[in-house]
Amino acid sequence: ENDILDKLPLKGKKVLITAGPTYEAIDPVRFIGNHSSGKMGFEIAKVSANLGAEVILITGPTYEKVANSLINVIPVVSADAMYNAVHQHFKTVDVAILSAAVADYKPKEVTSQKIKKKEATLTLELEKTKDILASLGVIKTNQYLVGFALETNNELENAKDKLKRKNLNLIVLNSLNDAGAGFKSETNKVTFIDADETVTEFQLKSKAEVASDLLNKILEQINA
Ligand code: CTP
Ligand code: CA
Repeated sequence: ENDILDKLPLKGKKVLITAGPTYEAIDPVRFIGNHSSGKMGFEIAKVSANLGAEVILITGPTYEKVANSLINVIPVVSADAMYNAVHQHFKTVDVAILSAAVADYKPKEVTSQKIKKKEATLTLELEKTKDILASLGVIKTNQYLVGFALETNNELENAKDKLKRKNLNLIVLNSLNDAGAGFKSETNKVTFIDADETVTEFQLKSKAEVASDLLNKILEQINA
């Protein structure tokens, strides 16, 4: 056998990716969510597969679709479900890229019946969700761990702090300040910060191009 596919740079590697938002139930018909489209994570999955990787794509609710025999899509809804799915697979992967916009808080109690409107105001008590990325930083052995940081102020400082605090190899800083960047848009403006605090700033690009830049950086680092 001398298959050209055997020569792809991520052949034989397993990459876990999280994507999209999470939905946190309030009652049987309502949830707390966010505007993440899932696009960034799906682009990362496609580039990884095109490089020959076996991909586990754990995604919250999204309109994105992908059909690729190398990409195993695992749909989840809540932060707890995403945590469980990630932990089911993390031990077996070489690279983990957590691009999901996981809810930071969830309703402390989920009522089994629909909440009826009564008083003029309604107060929901929220509790923190588990930080999936940080939990991987604690247990990681040889995995190359990548996080994202969505910041609106003190961007570099906050991103560096997340990189250290969560024990990451690389963090992708997403600048929400720039027009055309972020959640619903087709484009992103990112900065990479690696574990030795090397900072690489990029121009506004399509999310597909950002995904290529990211896999390029990861390949450079895992082959170094
Ligand atoms: N993340 C996660 N699990 C959570 C919250 C966040 O895995 N419960 C991951 C995201 O996927 C992302 C990174 O942590 O890769 C940073 O997310 P971000 O929202 O920027 O930072 P937080 O640590 O949640 O802090 P804050 O929102 O207060 O800035
Ligand atoms: Ca957050």
